[in-house]
Amino acid sequence: MEIKLYKGIETPMDMVLLYGSEVAAKAMPLKKDEWALLQERKTADAESLLVFDRLPHHLYIQNYNSELPSESMWEHLRRSAAKLQQRLVDEGVREVYLCGRGVIPEEMLAFVEGLHMANYRFDRYKTKKDKSLDRIWVDESIVSQSMLDENLVLWRNIDRCRDWVNEPVMALNAARFADELKARADELHVDCTVLGQKQIEALKMGGLLAVNKGSVDEARFVILEYKAEQPVNERPIALVGKGVMYDTGGLNIKPDDYMQEMKSDMAGAATMASVLFAAAENQLPVHIVALLPLTDSRPGGNAYAADDILTMYDGTTVEVINTDAEGRLLLADAVAYSNRFNPCLIIDAATLTGAAVRAIGTFGIAAMQQGADNAMSLLKIVGNKVYERLVEFPFWEEYDKLIESEVADIKNCGIAQAGAITAGKFVAHFAKQPYIHLDIAGVAFFSKRESFYGVGASGYGIRLLYAFLQTCDVMNLNK
Ligand code: BES
Ligand code: ZN
Ligand code: ZN
Repeated sequence: MEIKLYKGIETPMDMVLLYGSEVAAKAMPLKKDEWALLQERKTADAESLLVFDRLPHHLYIQNYNSELPSESMWEHLRRSAAKLQQRLVDEGVREVYLCGRGVIPEEMLAFVEGLHMANYRFDRYKTKKDKSLDRIWVDESIVSQSMLDENLVLWRNIDRCRDWVNEPVMALNAARFADELKARADELHVDCTVLGQKQIEALKMGGLLAVNKGSVDEARFVILEYKAEQPVNERPIALVGKGVMYDTGGLNIKPDDYMQEMKSDMAGAATMASVLFAAAENQLPVHIVALLPLTDSRPGGNAYAADDILTMYDGTTVEVINTDAEGRLLLADAVAYSNRFNPCLIIDAATLTGAAVRAIGTFGIAAMQQGADNAMSLLKIVGNKVYERLVEFPFWEEYDKLIESEVADIKNCGIAQAGAITAGKFVAHFAKQPYIHLDIAGVAFFSKRESFYGVGASGYGIRLLYAFLQTCDVMNLNK
């Protein structure tokens, strides 16, 4: 979808008018009875949608509640936009002009964001394509070109991330995903190193190699680096993403329909790559590296088994309790490898545990931190702002006991309780710098349509981490 700025008010197309507060009432292009109807509806439901005939076009008036706190108002605007998107395509509208009365840029951008994200379709395999909007025009008196451009870059990177996550493993295995990342990096002049099977073996990444053993496809380890000319952080922020191209569970194979949707188990890697690409494309003044271990996990003839004892990249030995707890094994190697870059902060994103979903559902991210109190506080603030929220779980030392092993240094699962935390603790064992763990299992992929996030891959977390990078200078990262 194209989004452009439009000058002027008279438009030869359908028009959507955002209407927040009474202040702008006089400027509404309405007749007396229409105005009365609008008032009545707005009183009954502050977020109602009204449609007036302006033959041959329509005037859609989208009310919104300007009395809400900004952050929830913006989220309501995104959600209203998703509903409107559905209505517009149902009515055969392909192009609209967006304007407003008494609307500030953040409000308009939230609305456009909702429209853009809701308009995403993964329909490349469908013979009959879904209907969607082709073009949006935005009143240039509300939003500037530079604001729009920065957001467009972000939204397009979100769409690309969703494509990667939605792509089934038969089309996107580790090697192909690595090729795609390399191609994208080359386009943006971002440094990209792809380690192949032999190099991963030479580096002795025991976690990644174990998970890969049952697969007929090779593993990859992708390293992306973007450094602005004058970054606010001299030492990079390391973004680590779980890249399990498909999670069958391995020999501890997933039962029944638990396996379905596990093509999304590489969402962490796709998210981190997309955050880095968006930052690079918009030239944010930061220094970041993304470390992406990629493989699928299968019960092949040579697959790793429960009871196996692995030696990880950093030398730690790990007893395998359950082969379905595979994500933490590749994350561990990647987190340990990040030490080479001497990062000021490590953040990982991973569809890591069902336990995180059971704890908080699909409304946010389960987050944990080790020595990264300040960064976590900032992340929570920006999370509330963009409404990709996180809740911090404890990382008490008592949990460490749960992953102690009789036969190795640690084991890859704890007990049935606190599963999201023991998973995080396992990875934290390998972090030598301040570390934040984001378990995105509940939000990376929606089985049913979820407002502007749509159905399937959501791209959840990219707006969060991008906003974090935009503001991380407040942390004095160089000290
Ligand atoms: N990829 C799954 C976690 C997951 C579950 C993501 C549901 C998205 C939706 C992960 O590899 C996994 O299988 N975790 C196990 C761990 C267990 C064996 C300790 C789980 O959560 O059941
Ligand atoms: Zn698993
Ligand atoms: Zn997994």
